[in-house]
Amino acid sequence: MPRLKLGVLISGRGSNLQALIDAAADPAYPAAIAAVISNRADAPGLARATERGIQAHIIADPDRAAFAAASDRVLREAGVGLVALAGFMRILDTRFVAAWTDRMINIHPSLLPAFPGLHPQRQALAAGVKFSGCTVHFVRDAVDTGPIIAQAVVPVIDGDDEDALAARILAAEHRLYPLAVRLFAEGRLAIAGNRVAAAGGTAPNIAALNPSDRV
Ligand code: GRF
Repeated sequence: MPRLKLGVLISGRGSNLQALIDAAADPAYPAAIAAVISNRADAPGLARATERGIQAHIIADPDRAAFAAASDRVLREAGVGLVALAGFMRILDTRFVAAWTDRMINIHPSLLPAFPGLHPQRQALAAGVKFSGCTVHFVRDAVDTGPIIAQAVVPVIDGDDEDALAARILAAEHRLYPLAVRLFAEGRLAIAGNRVAAAGGTAPNIAALNPSDRV
């Protein structure tokens, strides 16, 4: 079966991009990265793509519609079937979101719908929650909303500061994003309203505590 072509949009460090690159290095993984787009010329993540010979594009147009049009062209020319936002820090044009509905996903470092937007780890610490984590969801117009594909839970430990909690969540992100992309690539996700069912796995492994990589 041909592998799903993945387009990844980044703005910065690109550690989630790296997790996807590493997953796709296994020929048995059902997706391959066909294009990386950064809206910032200085994003360290760009080098992660070029080092592996993956097409990397800088599209830094400040105009939202122009950015969307140029990105759309790159993604279509690369034959992309799924767009993954990975630390992508720009609000997307409504028409771009509509054009990629149900074919664009995002990862966010909280258990959505708790703590959307900026500094979710700081928000979690301020709220005093005992668990936080990360969420992969289909993208809809409002920021950090959309049907949830998978979540991973991590504990908040007494004495955590923002960096310590962020690092613990990030380690879970690096497992969760490749898992969610794999479920999509294997055609196992069915969206019904705000809910996503994943065929062929047990619920705790797919969408509850610290998902197994072996769903
Ligand atoms: C991650 O925590 C991701 O969930 C959030 O932004 C951060 C990006 O990190 N959306 P990286 O660029 O993937 O290292």
